Order: sequence, then structure tokens, then C-alpha cells
Amino acid sequence: MPNNSFSSDVIAWQKKHGRKNLPWQKQRNAYRVWVSEIMLQQTQVATVIPYYQRFMDTFPTLTHLAAAPLDEVLQLWTGLGYYARARNMHKTAQLLIAEQQGEWPKELNALIDLPGIGRSTAGAILSLGMNKKGIILDGNVKRILARYHCVEGWPDSSKTNKLLWQHAETYTPNRGSKTFNQGMMDLGASLCSKKDPQCVQCPLQKGCEAFAKQSQDQFPHSKPKVKSPQKSTSMLMIVRNQNQVLLQQRPPQGIWGGLWSFPECDHLDQATIEKYCANQLGIDASLLNTWRPMKHTFSHFQLTISPIELDYKTTRSQIRESNASVWHRFNETPHFGVATPIKKILAKLSDCYPTK
Ligand code: ADE
Repeated sequence: MPNNSFSSDVIAWQKKHGRKNLPWQKQRNAYRVWVSEIMLQQTQVATVIPYYQRFMDTFPTLTHLAAAPLDEVLQLWTGLGYYARARNMHKTAQLLIAEQQGEWPKELNALIDLPGIGRSTAGAILSLGMNKKGIILDGNVKRILARYHCVEGWPDSSKTNKLLWQHAETYTPNRGSKTFNQGMMDLGASLCSKKDPQCVQCPLQKGCEAFAKQSQDQFPHSKPKVKSPQKSTSMLMIVRNQNQVLLQQRPPQGIWGGLWSFPECDHLDQATIEKYCANQLGIDASLLNTWRPMKHTFSHFQLTISPIELDYKTTRSQIRESNASVWHRFNETPHFGVATPIKKILAKLSDCYPTK
């Protein structure tokens, strides 16, 4: 049976113990809440704060974001990962400016129709950014509800997700969903933590089924394990004049879409790599070194990167691949987006070659 005091207990707890000074809680509006919610998907609050502040200094409004080149947005996103989030934000900003006079829709389904906005993010924008009723179900809220009702199954499986949404709908009050939602997120991030929850201090303890059975550590159920596929690639660091390296822009869709990276090939042997440079890139270069492979984990696979250092000799022809390319001075900060492993490789290159 739903506990009638659930919502009021969470609200009372939030007023007393919840967070009230996060940067996106100041000068609240839909734009500021939206940016924070997108950054907070898959990323911890402490990591997000400096990114959020830089982003807001550069793009204080939707108009600023829509007018910026995508490269500048991706540059500010470097290190946050899941770059599709940044591309979708840019698309949404441009769409709202071009088609809605920069006004946010005030209705759930219209928000969900925008690129990159799901049901929970839309609920957060409505409640936290517009003071309207909105229902949220992010990771923290899922954990609280899964424990409270001992909900079986992995929270992102469709059956379990549906049930958790029903619980979220039951408890979210018509008035005050802003404080309730912030309370659920803060409770999930503090007392109802994944490991070692502090049930003694929890305002929901008396109705919590997992607490009653002392089975808090069994909820929510974990994702069924499937070994993530392994992929590998060689990244070609073609070094010119000991201070520049060739970077190419990746296609807009897919992994690291729109970010700048090294040309890649599947091979590791010297002859094939040099042939690849000549035939695919139109560059004569000779192999200098193969660096120790680096592993990078994506949400759905693991990539082993073998960085290959080559010495540029000449350009035989215009670079043949259709991707945009630049000779980037590796001791300068790129003014475009690069993924974290590329940033690390550029920093190492800079260490290898004394400033020139
Ligand atoms: N995670 C997602 N949204 C949040 C918010 N508004 N405050 C704290 N953590 C969050």
C-alpha cells in the first residue's frame, strides 16, 4: 500500500537537509535546468559543476548556444563524454530559436519531442525550471523506489521501468513537485546511496520494504552481465616539423561524432601502415614508434587504441578522405572538441617533443 506521507516526508527532509546551493538552483529557468540535467546524465554532480560554470559563462542563454558553432560546444564538453548529448543540445537550441521564438514548450510531450530530452529530463525541466508538475525517474529515484517496494528486475528493463514510473507517478505531488523531486535526487545521492545506505536517518525508513527485510543491498537489481565487445584500432599520429600532428574531424554521426581525432587504420605492421598513409591520406610518412596500447571504455564496447607515431615526409596529393583535416600544434590547446583519450595522446606528444 502506498504510504500517504511519502511525499510530505521527502519534502520535509529536503527543506531541512537537501541541497540548495547547486549552481543550477540559482537564477533558475528552463534553460539552466536543462543544461544541468543533460550534463548530470551519467556524470556526478562534483564533476559537472566546473563544466556547468564554464558552459554558462560562454552560453548564458539559449540564444547564445544556438548561435555558437558546434565545435565550440563540443570543446566545452571535452571530458564529459557521451558527446551525442552535446550535439542534441545544440540541435534543440537551434530548433527552439528557429521555430519557437526561443520559447520552451510548457507541455510534457512537446518537451519529449525535442532532441535528447527523455521523459525524466522533461519532468525535471517542468518541475525545477518552470514550477509546474513534473515527474522524474533518474538513477537515484529508481534506487529509492526499487528499495521502498522491493521492485524485482533491472530498473532499465521495460517491465521494471514501467512499474517504477507508476510508483513515481503515485508519489509525485501535484503541488510542490519541485521540492519533492529535488528531495528524491538528494536523498538518492546521500542517505539512500548504492553502498552502505544510512537508513537510520532516512525519512522513508518506516515504509521501506527493503529496510523491513534488511535487504537494501539487493535492490535495485543489477544489469544482467554481458561481456562488452572488444574492438581495436590504430591511431596514426603523423608528426610534421616535430610540433604538429594531423587531426581529422570525425563524421557527425556515431562514436565521437563531430570531434577531432587521428586518422585510424586496422593494421599494426609498418608496411601496411605506411601504404595506408600514402594511399588513403596522400601522405608519405615513415613509422617511428608504436606506443603501448590504451584501453577506453564506451557504454557498449571496449576499445583498445594503439597509437602509432609516424614522421611526416611529404604530401603526395591533396588529402583524399573527405573528412576535414588540420595540422594541429600539439602544445596548444585545441579550440575544437577532442575526446579524452585524444587529449591524453596530444599531451604525451607534447612531452615527447621539446617545444619548437
Ligand atoms: N542529478 C540530476 N539532476 C540533479 C539535480 N537537479 N540536483 C542534483 N543532482 C541531480
